[in-house]
Amino acid sequence: MKIDPWSSTTYQDYAKLRDEFGIEEFTDQLWIDLPHPHKLLRRGVVFGHRDFQLIHEAVMQNKPWAILTGLMPSGKMHLGHKMVIDEVIYYQSIGADIFIAVADIEAFGTRGYTLEETKNFALDEYIPNYIALGLKPEKCRIYFQSKHQDVKDLAYILGKKINWSQMLATYGFGGSSNMTHIFSPLIQTGDILHVQLEKFGGIRPTLVPVGVDQDPHMRLSRDIAQAHRLYNVTVTKDKKIGVFVKVDENIKKLLDNAEKTLHFLKFKKLKRITDYKAIYIEDAKKQDMQYIDEQLALTEPNFGGYGFLQPSATFHRFMTGLTGEKMSSSKPESAIFLTDEPKEATKKIMHAKTGGAVSLEEQKKHGGNPDECVVYELFLYHLIEDDKELQDIYQTCKSGKRMCGNCKKYASELTEKLLTDLQKKRKTAKDKMNKYLS
Ligand code: TRP
Ligand code: SF4
Repeated sequence: MKIDPWSSTTYQDYAKLRDEFGIEEFTDQLWIDLPHPHKLLRRGVVFGHRDFQLIHEAVMQNKPWAILTGLMPSGKMHLGHKMVIDEVIYYQSIGADIFIAVADIEAFGTRGYTLEETKNFALDEYIPNYIALGLKPEKCRIYFQSKHQDVKDLAYILGKKINWSQMLATYGFGGSSNMTHIFSPLIQTGDILHVQLEKFGGIRPTLVPVGVDQDPHMRLSRDIAQAHRLYNVTVTKDKKIGVFVKVDENIKKLLDNAEKTLHFLKFKKLKRITDYKAIYIEDAKKQDMQYIDEQLALTEPNFGGYGFLQPSATFHRFMTGLTGEKMSSSKPESAIFLTDEPKEATKKIMHAKTGGAVSLEEQKKHGGNPDECVVYELFLYHLIEDDKELQDIYQTCKSGKRMCGNCKKYASELTEKLLTDLQKKRKTAKDKMNKYLS
């Protein structure tokens, strides 16, 4: 099985995806003690992650960390697109530096839009909606891939550590794939890693919140980050923690530096074996590895390295479309667009595929199935903040006390409110846009 970031596949079996690609489960202890955890985290919509514990730790210890995510500016923004930005806004509220890439080069290379068109999508549609949804300008930078020299430079330079066979194995490009498309994963790697350059805040944990279709890009950027490290901290066969120098230049200096850093971190029992380019730390435990690695990474720029920490990722489920298939801009009846007239949205909801039984009587007797209901999904993902109220909807649906007609009406009311509010906030959003753009 392969994940193709450019196909319109819907993924159903998230547990299987996790197992197959080594994505970790997003368990309760990762979010439960975060400040006012967001509903998408609380409710299992975010179902998987890579290295989120780095982010958790940064939040808990009040250390700097960053969010980087990207948007493919193509067409209109719908509720499915809203999820990422909801997450970003939450993370902004708990202290992250925010970076948002407008993937105009990718959209140009893979969707056939001109750069001018993608620019207009971003400026007329996506960014105003982001602002209306509550994104703040402080510590927030939105940029276009095609205009960001550092991102493009990194794409070229970092590509050195990945070869064509690896690209083929990850993406399955064919002979007719165009080169801009083929190059776009490296631009995305540039997006993801540039925030750790000194002038953008330096080496620090970075979280990329995305849909699971983006996992191939995450694996690529994580591999590339790792490949550029000068040090490697691992457990040896005989269970010792070791620091290894990965490169062949400056070995002595790098070992000296590691020794100094480890002493500073209060490790005392160091055994240096220069021939192995290694230092074994006999008084370190497994739990210390992360910290040691981070501290060493911070010193790597002194030796010509980048010191990139591997970027973390979270993966969220996709919203089902109102028609039961994928929510997609190309099928307007499947999606609620943030710019839909409220009445239009109500119409779509009234036609939506629910988990209701075939007749009212059946439903009273056996209940509905909220797990298979897109109206319930609207509540869960977007419309209801209070977990108790959501639970109540779930229960009353299952037990047959709740009927789809009224339930849809309630969902429509809440949706109309949401859209009306956005309409209002979008009016002033465009004037504020300059504060976000770099
Ligand atoms: N490829 C992403 C998409 O299809 C957009 C994107 C570009 C992105 N750069 C990114 C996402 C960096 C996350 C991080 O939607
Ligand atoms: Fe869905 Fe509501 Fe009908 Fe239950 S009652 S199946 S939640 S629309």
